[in-house]
Amino acid sequence: MRVLGIETSCDETGVAIFDDQQGLMAHAVYSQVDIHAAYGGVVPELASRDHIRKTLPLIRQVLDEAGLDKGSIDGVAYTAGPGLIGALLVGSAIGRSLAWGWKVPAIGVHHMEGHLLAPLLEEPSPQLPFVALLVSGGHTQLVDVTGIGRYRILGESLDDAAGEAFDKTAKLLELPYPGGPELAKLAEHGDPGRFRFPRPMTDRPGLDFSFSGLKTFALNSIKTALAESTDPDQARADIARAFEEAVVDTLVIKCRRALRETGRKRLILAGGVSANRRLRERMSTAIAAEGGEAFYPQPALCTDNGAMIAFAGCQRLRAGQHEPLVFKPRARWPM
Ligand code: KG4
Ligand code: ZN
Repeated sequence: MRVLGIETSCDETGVAIFDDQQGLMAHAVYSQVDIHAAYGGVVPELASRDHIRKTLPLIRQVLDEAGLDKGSIDGVAYTAGPGLIGALLVGSAIGRSLAWGWKVPAIGVHHMEGHLLAPLLEEPSPQLPFVALLVSGGHTQLVDVTGIGRYRILGESLDDAAGEAFDKTAKLLELPYPGGPELAKLAEHGDPGRFRFPRPMTDRPGLDFSFSGLKTFALNSIKTALAESTDPDQARADIARAFEEAVVDTLVIKCRRALRETGRKRLILAGGVSANRRLRERMSTAIAAEGGEAFYPQPALCTDNGAMIAFAGCQRLRAGQHEPLVFKPRARWPM
């Protein structure tokens, strides 16, 4: 089965073709970052309008790249939520309409299920069951995965998602949007010993997270550094490093705990924050020390993309699931 996947839940237009015999045949992502940078964050209406401009040309592009014509597509998968409702409507309307025109089934995919299954696009791919750490701009969740569609939430953030904490702290450090990768870059020059941020909720049992306190801690650290009138650029780098260390440590502690509690040996990381180099390195070492193994998608498949939607959609379509002609994108949608 060969599936066209369309992702438009936020500020990236992602399109891909996944074939269950040949694997990923083509994928392309168009980032709207330049459009939103001037505003310091995603402007939903601008996002929707740009998805309208980019989605069909990207679909033509991936069909060309794969050397296919539209008649060779067996199904269409589109992100149906959660996300920005206007942006979701664009991808859903285009995906559902193409499927209708091409007389093939359509399926609305949960964005986080897309992220969750993205590591299965890699070789070697992790065998089920595994524990997944989903860390994106909107979600931080630990999930026990025993099969496609068989997900048990083990823990999640009670306030800010890890990516959101990265983005908000980056803003406090006056870094440009998108903040997470910029903060990670700045942290490279930081001294890990100068500031010590807390590791929230690690001193009590459980697998939930809380990241909102870290940005307050960052703010106070900035004030302290300014009062000490030290080199402000170095202080910002030191704070970025201390913040990143705290998030990474917290995620590592909870993942180790999740593996112990479930008895699983495999951990997968997915979502935008899993592109973070320090997180990947530290997690691999910590999980190996437990006798387990950590898996990650390549960085391009960590952040939003169409390949994960094509893949997840293919699994669901193969299982006989599909949508009626009515489509219903959802801004909020529990997994
Ligand atoms: O999965 P994603 O592309 O979109 C959502 O579904 O939210 O994740 C975006 C999030 C943003 O918060 C971004 O700052 C963060 O992932 N991110 C990073 C890195 N790359 C992306 N955070 C830390 N380090 C990175 N290298
Ligand atoms: Zn995402």
